[in-house]
Amino acid sequence: MSYEALTVRPVTPRIGAEVFGVDLTRPLSNRQTEELKNALADHLVLFFRDQPIDHESHKTLGRSFGELAIHSGVSGLPEHPEIVAIHADANSKYVAGENWHSDLTCNAEPPMGSILYLHTAPDYGGDTLFSSMYAAYEALSPRMKAYLEGLTAVHDGDHVYKPLFPDVDRKYPCSTHPVVRTHPVTGRKLIFVNSSYTTRIVEVPKEESNAILAFLYDHVKNPNFQVRFRWKPHSIAFWDNRCTQHLATWDYFPQTRSGYRVTVAGDKPF
Ligand code: SIN
Repeated sequence: MSYEALTVRPVTPRIGAEVFGVDLTRPLSNRQTEELKNALADHLVLFFRDQPIDHESHKTLGRSFGELAIHSGVSGLPEHPEIVAIHADANSKYVAGENWHSDLTCNAEPPMGSILYLHTAPDYGGDTLFSSMYAAYEALSPRMKAYLEGLTAVHDGDHVYKPLFPDVDRKYPCSTHPVVRTHPVTGRKLIFVNSSYTTRIVEVPKEESNAILAFLYDHVKNPNFQVRFRWKPHSIAFWDNRCTQHLATWDYFPQTRSGYRVTVAGDKPF
């Protein structure tokens, strides 16, 4: 893919690219938007530096790629319900996203992407790891691919949010999606189960489901499928939530790591 409005520098062959030559704090041109969509399809997660974006511009940026989704698990900012704070400091008891996951796969229509901005980053540590679910699928044996074809799995929000918020009396979304999903833009197949939200494969006995999910959860951790992003203040990561999983490391306690995320709505997986 060639780009005229951006400079795109891959970080690994399978996943991740740094993007230069675009100011995300200002409205994007049509050309920039199209090229960012192409870059996201090619590289799955895009990294940007020196983007001190405010809440309105962050939402405008997200809306360039679709409608914004309201987070179904945690509340957004009082004045900006589409924006969730991502924050950890010396008083934190947990951080968001410490396990491998795709965002909000408990939703009937999980997000197409997330755009995370950090204004404060630890001096070192606090990296986010991303894994390509295309690469994970393509590395499976033909026999395992055939086995998984047509299976569906339950993704349960209670599994993630009830342990975090035991005092909150509410039911979180729960949805069933294909175990192998086809990306609506690229047409490529990918593994679409994750250890945070997915609780069982519907069509097989529970013990078999547990064993297959344990295999897949281990398989997606292969470093050959991954890229690791080292944050600096005012960096942005924009990931395609349909074909990646990510994990936020919490190795920087008691330092502060802080920012905001908007989520772009997606569609029903097939
Ligand atoms: C998340 O969206 O899961 C948080 C990612 C991060 O803080 O790096």
